[in-house]
Amino acid sequence: MSTAAPSTHPVIEMRGISKSYPGVRALDGVSLTVMPGEVHALVGENGAGKSTLMKILAGAQPRDAGDIIMRGDVVTIDGPQRAMDLGISIIYQEFNLVPYLNAAENIFLGREPGARIPGFVDFRRMYREAQEVVDRLGVKLDVRAPVHTLSIAQQQMVEIAKATSRKSSVIVMDEPSATLTEHELVGLFKLIRQLQAEGVGIVYISHRLEEVFEIADRVTVLRDGRHIATHGIAELTRDDIIRLMVGRELTQMIPKVPAPIGDAILEVQGLSRRNVLQDINLTVRKGEVLGVAGLVGSGRTELARAIFGADRFDAGQILLDGKPVRVRSPQDAIRLGIGLVTEDRKAQGLVLGMAVRENVTLANLAAISRFNFIMAGRERGIAQGYVSDLGIRTPSIEQTVQNLSGGNQQKVVLAKWLFTDSRVLIFDEPTRGIDVGAKTEIYQLINDLAAKGVGIIMISSELPEVLGMSDRIVVMHEGRIVGAMPASEATQVDIMHLATGGK
Ligand SMILES: Nc1ncnc2c1ncn2[C@@H]1O[C@H](COP(=O)(O)OP(=O)(O)OP(=O)(O)O)[C@@H](O)[C@H]1O
Ligand SMILES: [Mg+2]
Repeated sequence: MSTAAPSTHPVIEMRGISKSYPGVRALDGVSLTVMPGEVHALVGENGAGKSTLMKILAGAQPRDAGDIIMRGDVVTIDGPQRAMDLGISIIYQEFNLVPYLNAAENIFLGREPGARIPGFVDFRRMYREAQEVVDRLGVKLDVRAPVHTLSIAQQQMVEIAKATSRKSSVIVMDEPSATLTEHELVGLFKLIRQLQAEGVGIVYISHRLEEVFEIADRVTVLRDGRHIATHGIAELTRDDIIRLMVGRELTQMIPKVPAPIGDAILEVQGLSRRNVLQDINLTVRKGEVLGVAGLVGSGRTELARAIFGADRFDAGQILLDGKPVRVRSPQDAIRLGIGLVTEDRKAQGLVLGMAVRENVTLANLAAISRFNFIMAGRERGIAQGYVSDLGIRTPSIEQTVQNLSGGNQQKVVLAKWLFTDSRVLIFDEPTRGIDVGAKTEIYQLINDLAAKGVGIIMISSELPEVLGMSDRIVVMHEGRIVGAMPASEATQVDIMHLATGGK
């Protein structure tokens, strides 16, 4: 190993990396260099190959060709342990936590601080150190809580704490912000700047270009598994990046088409759940998009789950077409025509081991069955239709969903609910992890649903999306609705003010 001027060496250099899966060339001769103290953004459409490139770096996937160079030497990375030993840490897009261990145990998994007696863990030290790491991120979180009891955003913070608490020379963050709102994002960015100052190289993957402009020094764009460009951030505009990503001009990002608004379909009256929801009242009309804004933990997801029958509530009622209905379970909700497109595609949306085709038709088997037999031809036709409408990138409808890229999995969740003919659809972060081009397709779809008279509740942390796509907006804070207004009269500043508890 050379010792001269180490700081001028890249912390990592990937050269000519190629990787194919059956029917897919995921990477084709891609190169990437990360300098010490650099934040290098990696961007590209869903399925462009970002996660695959990083899984290869982290030893989670073998490559077909190419070299990885650290401090001037070619290194062999034949597994995750080896990558870790080399100082490569990764925050996976699909979390990698052990649900029944608590946050501290996950953070220190495999390197628990030893007690004086060999073979025993010094738990007090582990909890203390884990709490320090978490506090440094500025999140409220009990490190003794089992991970499966934490919210998605909190789990994401545990994943971040886990990757950043060990000494690393390069840290890969694969869409760390997808589940976070402003507050957590500020904590994450502060941490990134600290790591940067310590000379750590960071690869930052995100579909939110504002973040890229805020945090990155350089940007690499991938398209269809190929390296398209690498530039200093100052040399690029937002439109430049989008053009490089999609290979064409993209105009008008949020094409809201107002639909005729009819009678009330869904009404929620006095809905309360101890410590979670306080006296929620809202109405959704036919053809209306009701945006729900608020911070992580403000009760938005809990509200969606209560309406969908996934969680019980203590008081209040739900009315459909003016009549009270009983929604005790998701089955009840589906039968009544209420659907929930979840933010957590892994736990609630998809059966990862099943094919695209089966997942799409799962929630509405009746529509493709006769005398309890599935009409295979009809099922294939429907799945194929959604794959092309939504631009789901997959070699075929028979592909197992877990083999799709993150954004394409999210599109399968959407297809599944679109196929149910719901009268009310609740979207919880519908464009999380979806690339800029495909977002427009999803907005178009929401417009189409509204035009058909579906009532839509759209929960989103992306304010431009809430403002652009909604007819009316409600803002939640600490389990309450603290503001309601027509979207045409709302501004980002107003919403943030209400969401953070301002009057
Ligand atoms: N285990 C696998 N088996 C088969 N195909 C795979 C597998 N993993 C990824 N692919 C395919 O490789 C391509 C690149 O996927 P990758 O996950 O790297 O995309 P990405 O750029 O991270 O996209 P996203 O923004 O949606 O996360 C996609 O076409 C995907 O379907
Ligand atoms: Mg990915």
